[in-house]
Amino acid sequence: MTEPEAQPVTVVGLGAMGSALAGALLAAGHPTTVWNRTAARTEPLTALGARAVGDIGEAVRAAPLVVTCLTTYDATLEALTPASEDLGGRTLITLNSGAPSGARSMAAWAEARGARFLDGAVKNVPSAVGRADTLLYYSGDREVFDAHLPTLQVFGGDTQHLGGDVDLAALYESAVGGTLLPALLGFFQGAALVTARGLTAESLVPHTVKWLEMINALLPDLASEIDSGNYQQPQSALGLFHAAIPDERQLGAEAGIDIRWLESMHDLLQRGVDLGYGDLSISVLVEVLRQTDPAS
Ligand SMILES: NC(=O)c1ccc[n+]([C@@H]2O[C@H](COP(=O)([O-])OP(=O)(O)OC[C@H]3O[C@@H](n4cnc5c(N)ncnc54)[C@H](OP(=O)(O)O)[C@@H]3O)[C@@H](O)[C@H]2O)c1
Repeated sequence: MTEPEAQPVTVVGLGAMGSALAGALLAAGHPTTVWNRTAARTEPLTALGARAVGDIGEAVRAAPLVVTCLTTYDATLEALTPASEDLGGRTLITLNSGAPSGARSMAAWAEARGARFLDGAVKNVPSAVGRADTLLYYSGDREVFDAHLPTLQVFGGDTQHLGGDVDLAALYESAVGGTLLPALLGFFQGAALVTARGLTAESLVPHTVKWLEMINALLPDLASEIDSGNYQQPQSALGLFHAAIPDERQLGAEAGIDIRWLESMHDLLQRGVDLGYGDLSISVLVEVLRQTDPAS
């Protein structure tokens, strides 16, 4: 299965990300049809050469490949349902975030309507769409992925297929994405601390970048501990993190910073110590996470 160059594509959902995807297709010369619930959002793309249609069925019929980028799977289903009869024989690729169960339901729905289906995730911000190093990953039928690869690479040069199970992209997106908010909150807390002293958040950046590089370097060893279940040779023991709890609380009080977001992490550390894990590697927190929360 190969596709001709500049295959026609329909993009459904023109929020920040969908607009970036459609813009990249237009820049690469793909005849691009766009549909959005709020029609005004099609205008910047029609100015770039897209064809906007108001009827979702017409949008779906306009191309053999339909890419959706709405907020959720539920929103995607809601938008596509009036075009149910039009999907047969086409390829549908969903690029929203969501739970693996959402990807599985979406696949079953699309396949019941005779469509080929892939689920994917854009692992970057809209302004990075189209760059050679931008990562997107997909899951589902490998043949469908291979058939559309030249088009998918328009969205980002680092385009990967994670496997035939259709929910793998959503699974990995959720698993990787879990790092984002805690990491950003850690940075925001640091920024609140230094700015409380009249220093700039900018002064923190090189040091935080170095710190994140250190964390990057630790991940393979931590993963190996988790995969082997051997937490006995810690570089950093759970007890070390637990011992720092009073200092963290003190620091927050001294600087007048609300650090309550740390409480659930302190609770996890305490549960680890209570389970007798204090001398084990910090990665043993995975074992704490695997246990049912006693409070639930
Ligand atoms: N932005 C990012 O940095 C980023 C990065 C990676 C992944 N993503 C993922 O990409 C997806 C889209 O994100 P975004 O930033 O483009 O969001 P956004 O700017 O908020 O746009 C949301 C889009 O979904 C449409 N929509 C929502 N509910 C709908 C419904 N019931 N029926 C029809 N259309 C509906 C909106 O239509 P209207 O215009 O009519 O409201 C709009 O086109 C999300 O799953 C997000 O997690 C985003």
